[in-house]
Amino acid sequence: MTRLEGKGIIVTGGASGIGEATVRRIIEEGGRVVIADLDREQGEALAKELGEEQAKFVETDVADTPSVESLFRTTADFCGVDGVFNNAGIGAITPSADCSDDDWQKVIDINLTGVFKVARQALQIMQKQGHGSIVNCASILGHLGQSQTPAYSAAKGGVLNFTRTLAVETALDGVRVNSISPGYIQTPMLDVLDEESLEGLKQLHAMKRLGRPEEIAAATVFLLSDEASFITGADLLVDGGFTAGKS
Ligand SMILES: NC(=O)c1ccc[n+]([C@@H]2O[C@H](COP(=O)([O-])OP(=O)(O)OC[C@H]3O[C@@H](n4cnc5c(N)ncnc54)[C@H](O)[C@@H]3O)[C@@H](O)[C@H]2O)c1
Repeated sequence: MTRLEGKGIIVTGGASGIGEATVRRIIEEGGRVVIADLDREQGEALAKELGEEQAKFVETDVADTPSVESLFRTTADFCGVDGVFNNAGIGAITPSADCSDDDWQKVIDINLTGVFKVARQALQIMQKQGHGSIVNCASILGHLGQSQTPAYSAAKGGVLNFTRTLAVETALDGVRVNSISPGYIQTPMLDVLDEESLEGLKQLHAMKRLGRPEEIAAATVFLLSDEASFITGADLLVDGGFTAGKS
């Protein structure tokens, strides 16, 4: 399919996991991509594999304003900014009573403030040009409480309502803003968990399995594309039935 023909799209956290799968899918759909990530080695290798016409790596820290501004300047020159997948994020597991100020702040800075910094920069271009689609990566943990993820859950809940706010603010400017909420997905983010924990997580999904990064990429590409032209302010749960209820 070529649902993103001619479109230029930034994928933050595009060097790994869900971001990498989305980068690949955007290119299959005819788009061009800027891979914005802290990880230079993996990001450059992916861009090289995909070809310099289609993909460019830009070393970016989404928690740093000058870095984000520079990302958008480079992207404007390379492919334009028709879409953004605001996906960079880190995991963190700490009992709330033991969560230090630094642990809290790091997760909020990347998973919530980073989403804001990237969206702010995107809107400065998209509102002026009169079109654009932003997809913010939230999580089932933005919808449900889970013990030992205080900052992560707070950040993802924040992403959900920040998304709605952006959507109502920009709907008359031709800009759409939505979020996606993955269940547990097989990516390097889950490498910290042992086999037993992973098995337990599988059982929490009605489908009794983890998701694949490609399954998030497919839904994200839909929201980025013009096929979702009447969808803004929505959250798309892609969670194998995790939030649907107990089976
Ligand atoms: N894997 C899951 O189970 C799961 C579930 C729900 C939501 N998510 C969300 O999906 C998104 C992608 O996660 P993933 O599972 O693919 O993880 P991942 O660790 O495979 O990829 C995350 C990428 O983000 C990059 N990154 C981290 N901090 C960054 C920063 N400050 N600036 C730029 N890039 C940065 C990393 O280098 C990495 O390439 C995250 O927002 C995560 O919270 C993941």
